[in-house]
This record gives sequence, structure tokens and C-alpha cells, in this order.
Amino acid sequence: MFSETGLAIDELFIGETNFIANASNFASFVYHNFSDMNWVGFYFLSNNELVLGPFQGNPACVRIALGKGVCGNSALQRKAIIVENVNDFPGYIACDPHSKSEMVIPVIHSGKLYGVFDIDSPVQNRFSVKELELFESYLELLLNSSNLIPLECYYHI
Ligand code: SME
Repeated sequence: MFSETGLAIDELFIGETNFIANASNFASFVYHNFSDMNWVGFYFLSNNELVLGPFQGNPACVRIALGKGVCGNSALQRKAIIVENVNDFPGYIACDPHSKSEMVIPVIHSGKLYGVFDIDSPVQNRFSVKELELFESYLELLLNSSNLIPLECYYHI
């Protein structure tokens, strides 16, 4: 898939290993190339809670405790979560009133949890397992292309 700038996902990271820069372009790439997404971005683990990272969309909640909301549950359980209807998820954290469904994927590299990648949609039941697998493969590219050590220092992972 090519972005509006003509770049494919694996071309986004060529010649760049800065994780925050690559994660920022990653969020922008997804936001601009898929339909029906109102928020796309990262939360990174920091001192045992999730802290807002690079994203596209409206300003969002900055800190999420592990085990809270969709993001905190995905991080704690280290598993992806697809929420068909956010009203049905106990403890859902409403950052953007437009969000109707959500998908959260844990960001794990070499067995270490770095945080989560979160996508919100204004449409109910927006996310499929097929797309989840696609985004997991994108995340693998991002993680394999980037140096995570500065992130660990900044976010105290
Ligand atoms: N809805 C999320 C909070 C983050 S925002 O969607 C950007 C949750 O329940 O964890």
C-alpha cells in the first residue's frame, strides 16, 4: 500500500532509526491511508502506566493505568483487543466522543512490552482480524527498523 506521498509502509523508515520519528510517521501513514479512523496513535509504558505518544487525531487522555480501559487491558494481558461497540466494553475510557469502535495492539519487541498502538473509529464494528494482522505486520516493520533504546530512557520502560 502506498501513502498519499507515494511512500509504501516499508519505505517510511528507510535511513531512519529514531523510534519517535518513525512512530510518528507510522501513525500518520495509518490515519491517512485507511477509512473511518478518527484517532490513531501510541501509548508507551512509563513507570508502570501508559503515557501518550505520537498520534493523529484530537488531543487525548495522557495517562492510562495498566488494566484500565481498552489500552490498559491490552497492555496488561499483552494481547490485541478488538471492541465492536465501545459502549459494551466495561471501563472503556472515552477520550473522543466520536469513537464507536476500537482496536488496540500491544507493542512487544524481543519479549518486552513497550506500550500499545490504538485505533479509534467513528463507525461501529469497524475492525477485522484480517486488518489486525496487517497492522501487526506493520508494527513489526516499525520495531525492526527502529532503535528502541532512547525510548526506554525517555519513557522509563
Ligand atoms: N479508549 C481508550 C483510551 C484511549 S483513546 O481511545 C485515544 C481506552 O479505553 O483505553
